[in-house]
Amino acid sequence: MPSPSSARRGEYGFDAPYAVFGLLMAALPPLVAGVIFWRQPWGKLLLAAGVAGSISTALYLHATRRGKFAVWARELAAVGLAGSERVVDLGCGRGAVLTMAAELVPDGAAVGVDLWRSADQSGNRAEVTRANAAAEAVADRVTLVTADLRELPFADGEFDLAVSSLAVHNISDADGRARAVREAARVLRPGGRLVIADMARTSEYAATLRALGFAVTHRRSGWRGWFGGPWTATAFVTARKPSRRVR
Ligand SMILES: C[S@@+](CC[C@H](N)C(=O)[O-])C[C@H]1O[C@@H](n2cnc3c(N)ncnc32)[C@H](O)[C@@H]1O
Repeated sequence: MPSPSSARRGEYGFDAPYAVFGLLMAALPPLVAGVIFWRQPWGKLLLAAGVAGSISTALYLHATRRGKFAVWARELAAVGLAGSERVVDLGCGRGAVLTMAAELVPDGAAVGVDLWRSADQSGNRAEVTRANAAAEAVADRVTLVTADLRELPFADGEFDLAVSSLAVHNISDADGRARAVREAARVLRPGGRLVIADMARTSEYAATLRALGFAVTHRRSGWRGWFGGPWTATAFVTARKPSRRVR
């Protein structure tokens, strides 16, 4: 079964850069104060808080820079693509998952959809994603489309596989997230597959897909997908569209 390489040549930035800043700010002051005042009982408490915060920051940095790629390489390999499929990445950002999927469809197409919000990923711009597709030698099959996940500019059933990594939870309201999941379902062909990874709200996505008649599995990715700790673990929702049409 072909598997994309999790070692990347492109530059994929940091997810939710404000969260990295927040974690560092929560970890460093108590760590420094704890080291200075470690002889005091409250100094030991500060030190413990600083160490816990540093571990959480390290887990986040690992997940966003390395772990995400490793868990997606495994998930994409498990889909078992033949190589000529049309794949859409919903909220592709700088192309971390888009370019990995594109590696697996040398005779197909990989379409990335995004609004390129830099609050959600550092340096998030379509030009950066294009440069990453070139760096990974998949630019010949990658197309980028600027659109909202709640209203996809594609016909029903255009894609064999839809993927989405850490994007749908950024839609603030439950109705909007359900619309995004229903749009993903709509653009899949009957029998097509959907893989959504997120650090929150995945039970909602699974419920929306079950209501549409999809066969759904829902599970956590393991520590490499922990964005700070087990409380923000990446979970995967994988689903297959039934053979009848879904509206
Ligand atoms: C945390 S980034 C993840 C990017 C990429 N999937 C990855 O894993 O590296 C979330 C992405 O979702 C995009 N996004 C958020 N809300 C969106 C919406 N309503 N429509 C389209 N894209 C959206 C952001 O612009 C950002 O690129």
